[in-house]
Amino acid sequence: MAQSQPYYEPTANECLLFEQAFKNKLPLLLKGPTGCGKTRFVSHMAHQIGVPLHTVSCHDDLSASDLTGRYLLKGGDTVWTDGPLTKAVREGGICYLDEVVEARKDVAVVLHPLTDDRRLLPLERTGELLEAPDDFMLVVSYNPGYQNMMKSLKPSTRQRFIAAEFDFPDAQTETRIVATESGLDPDRTMGLVRLARKLRDMKGQDLEEGVSTRLLVYCATLIQAGLGYDEAIRHAMIEPLTDEYDVKQGLEEVVRVSFG
Ligand SMILES: Nc1ncnc2c1ncn2[C@@H]1O[C@H](COP(=O)(O)OP(=O)(O)OP(=O)(O)O)[C@@H](O)[C@H]1O
Ligand SMILES: [Mg+2]
Repeated sequence: MAQSQPYYEPTANECLLFEQAFKNKLPLLLKGPTGCGKTRFVSHMAHQIGVPLHTVSCHDDLSASDLTGRYLLKGGDTVWTDGPLTKAVREGGICYLDEVVEARKDVAVVLHPLTDDRRLLPLERTGELLEAPDDFMLVVSYNPGYQNMMKSLKPSTRQRFIAAEFDFPDAQTETRIVATESGLDPDRTMGLVRLARKLRDMKGQDLEEGVSTRLLVYCATLIQAGLGYDEAIRHAMIEPLTDEYDVKQGLEEVVRVSFG
């Protein structure tokens, strides 16, 4: 049975942009805070376009050969094994590199020929030069919020992508998302969304990141499961944000003022 399309609520014209990028073979960079819908968007669009999705969560140890592949020992023989990027280039589909700035510097070297008009992936170890098929698309994402200078993309890398900025949706859209994801009724959800927006205003002063849509979904899910508001808010909208006693007090004050 075909899997149903992952639910995604558009917040602007991002779906059209994605489709155009795919059709015109333009690589796409998505930036935005944690939990605002980037990953969900990409899986929704892969389903919409009808191509496979190859996702790689990048980390600071991820190297070019983790993406391209390597020789592995199999029953006494060494056998070349494609990495996820090579697999996507061979099979077609969307290759999504999540948190790409975390990856090691040599990753840029394999991305560069793939993201200009050559669309080539050279595999030094096997001597192959793969040309990306028409239905191959590279999508990368990162969160500019907690990057330091060392961890931003070089202009020569970022200027190979068209880019879209994601942010938390307006209150009405976010209510629809959270209600749909959690099953909590929209009226009760609206109150939580309003609270989250107030908590987000405190970002920057003491907080690295504001309450994400993801945390709002968690909070509404707990309430829908029967937890009290106080408890659900504490575990989903306060504790995940900070360890600092004073900051927590500040957040709790906002909750008290909003919910009485
Ligand atoms: N526009 C949206 N439509 C539907 N669900 C959404 C949307 N935005 C956020 N969500 C909900 O928020 C959750 C987190 O979104 P997602 O995992 O896509 O965030 P992300 O931007 O990839 O975060 P991170 O940078 O931490 O990986 C989703 O699982 C989904 O429940
Ligand atoms: Mg993600």
